[in-house]
Amino acid sequence: MSAILEVRDLSRQFGGFRAVGDVGFSVEKGSIHAVIGPNGAGKTTLFRLLTGVLKPTTGTVRFKGQVISGRKPNVIARAGLVQTFQITNIFPRLGTLESVEAAIMVRRRRTYDFASFLHSSAKVRAEAMDWLDRVGLADSADAVAGTLSHGDQRALEVALALSTKPELLLLDEPTAGMSPWETERTVSLVQELARTERLTVLFSEHDTDVVFGISDRITVMHRGQVIAEGTPGEVRNNAEVSAVYLGEEA
Ligand SMILES: Nc1ncnc2c1ncn2[C@@H]1O[C@H](COP(=O)(O)OP(=O)(O)O)[C@@H](O)[C@H]1O
Ligand SMILES: [Mg+2]
Repeated sequence: MSAILEVRDLSRQFGGFRAVGDVGFSVEKGSIHAVIGPNGAGKTTLFRLLTGVLKPTTGTVRFKGQVISGRKPNVIARAGLVQTFQITNIFPRLGTLESVEAAIMVRRRRTYDFASFLHSSAKVRAEAMDWLDRVGLADSADAVAGTLSHGDQRALEVALALSTKPELLLLDEPTAGMSPWETERTVSLVQELARTERLTVLFSEHDTDVVFGISDRITVMHRGQVIAEGTPGEVRNNAEVSAVYLGEEA
């Protein structure tokens, strides 16, 4: 096993407030790795630091051995570290299939003469259809993206991200707002993709039940810091982690 992502001493201040403080962890290639923690723990800020949307105040992020912290989001995405895009912000009026085609076109970013454009557009369509099929949306190919159910929109976002051929896929609270069966479907999709696409998945979750079943490793954050890290069994039996979650419910 080797680390695809290595985070060292990563911090981010907002004014005098430290949203992420000296965070360090590694993600093994091919693993499903979860970052858990109550609301406000710093999970979203951490992900924004990893994708380059935010610049760290201190620390480094290495992806496939190269330092990526401080680089632009599009450079990081092209290197293969991709977070799901919010479909509702980007392509709400496009058809489901069309939006995946658009993402594939952006990835290829080539110009074609008309004959090869027609040839390639058939290929792009077939590839887009394949991604929709993978995430269980083949029957919604013609639907307008913005009219899909909440769970289907999230699945489409996964298809869009996958169509850019990532090596490390980041999902920030993928099951937020989902019904139990949508959650179940998302969880099995993530598991299947990690296996069939040889993808590494780093996802954040607020709901601990989702995490224990599918993660190889779990990093626990609280108030911007890592308070525990280990296998699901180790984290489940960690007294500090239990205290944080009990404290939240109280
Ligand atoms: N752009 C920002 N400016 C100021 N404070 C922020 C900003 N983004 C996040 N925070 C604060 O950082 C903390 C961590 O937030 P966040 O990373 O969204 O946590 P989580 O995703 O774990 O719920 C919260 O207290 C939040 O209010
Ligand atoms: Mg968040």
